[in-house]
Amino acid sequence: MSTSPVIKLASGEQIPIELHKVRMVQKLHLKPVEERLEAVKAAGYNSFLMSTRDIFLDMLTDSGTNAMSDLQVSSMLQADDAYAGSQSFDRVKQAVKDVFGKEYFLPVHQGRAAEHVIFQAFVSPGHVVPMNYHFTTTKAHIELPGGKIDEIFTEEGLKVKSTFPFKGNIDIQKLRNLIETHGADKIPFVRMEASTNLIGGQPFSVENMRQVRAVCQQHNIMLLLDASLIGENAYFVKQREAEFKDSSIGEILHTLCGLADLIYFSSRKVSSTRGGGICTNDVRLFDQLKDLVILYEGFLTYGGMSVREIEAMAVGLRETQDETVIGQSPAFIKYLVETLDAQGVPVVTPPGGLGCHVDAGGFLPHVPQTEYPAGALVAAYYIASGVRGMERGTISSVRDEAGNDLLADVELMRLAMPRRVFTLSQVKYAADRLLWLYKNRELVGGLRFEYEPKVLRFFLGRLVPTSDWPERLAAKFRADFGDSL
Ligand code: F0G
Repeated sequence: MSTSPVIKLASGEQIPIELHKVRMVQKLHLKPVEERLEAVKAAGYNSFLMSTRDIFLDMLTDSGTNAMSDLQVSSMLQADDAYAGSQSFDRVKQAVKDVFGKEYFLPVHQGRAAEHVIFQAFVSPGHVVPMNYHFTTTKAHIELPGGKIDEIFTEEGLKVKSTFPFKGNIDIQKLRNLIETHGADKIPFVRMEASTNLIGGQPFSVENMRQVRAVCQQHNIMLLLDASLIGENAYFVKQREAEFKDSSIGEILHTLCGLADLIYFSSRKVSSTRGGGICTNDVRLFDQLKDLVILYEGFLTYGGMSVREIEAMAVGLRETQDETVIGQSPAFIKYLVETLDAQGVPVVTPPGGLGCHVDAGGFLPHVPQTEYPAGALVAAYYIASGVRGMERGTISSVRDEAGNDLLADVELMRLAMPRRVFTLSQVKYAADRLLWLYKNRELVGGLRFEYEPKVLRFFLGRLVPTSDWPERLAAKFRADFGDSL
């Protein structure tokens, strides 16, 4: 018997089910299409620059937007305000030990702060960091001290449509080749990212991590785990890796984390709070990092976080062991992906963690990559629905030295599914409006930059459409839906 939050109806249909009740709510705004058109224009066609005043379903990210539990919120009242030696820290340290099996813990203010500290300590010019796939902040923080990344995903990794259960796996032969080419002394660590974000929230298997660890041990290379989405990865291991079908999520978390020498995470994701952390059982690694945490983040018992957040993080980490909690997002994502897939909308399969990833290249084949199909799709979908997604394509990439866009491997629109935030009727609405947009996809055109920042341009960049396509799309919406929102 599974405790996965999916139930079978009498008709045989399976639906995701909310195994929680809603006890505090926030009003949402579903504005008429004409106002949505104005709002996206004012935001420079960049969903990062929009206000939630203009947004119906905020599917930008799950980062800092998962719903907290009653136990998390109430734990914040027992926070121990102290610069040093706070008992709140003792509680989170114990939670890290119980959930991840790691003795030494350094709190930091969020995931990228952990990356900053770790990469400052271990990456030097000429270093190469192999990984299953990069995350935007990871790449930027490895390149800052002069390192380079090398992505060694398997052949299945970037295929949009696939039935391969572990697209986040590392290709072991590529790892061996890379070590031979560069030499182990140029590789400070191998990085594995749980539920690999940018390729569609896709997990790796325990078996793959065991193999990576064996190669690392053979060459005396450290294995670093980005555990920001480790709960979902453990959930997929239980569902998809036969050896673990009867294991608890707690046991799988211990198995995965036990294979890593050093772990970091964004608490904005893993424990539905804010903040982040670094943990290890190796006191030498802890000693190498602790001074940098004090320098950049804060004293070792708060690391830039408020003690209230630290308390909620301790509870949230423990809740990561509960399949009904960490299975919520994957269950709703699966529903959305399968609904769209059945109607021919190109989406990343198998369904992963984090969100539903729509293949903008396949959705808008008439928009060239240099006109940012993923960004255009996010803007068009907002106009059609009031739902905010995130561009994960060439806008999220960079330019080469000649000034040309480095075209992304995949052009994706990410519709994140924050944990325990949306209901099934909202998810059905999101699917319905995307299906309408798919039928009207020829109306959607491209975008070009009007203002382009040099670093992480997707956050603050402003764009304009290459024609009056947004107006024509809004007019078609009005014609089809009459006076409905
Ligand atoms: N690693 C992964 C895998 C992430 O997904 C993120 C953040 C970070 C590191 C950085 O953590 O935001 O706390 O500094 N992902 C967010 C997202 C931003 O929207 O996917 P952070």
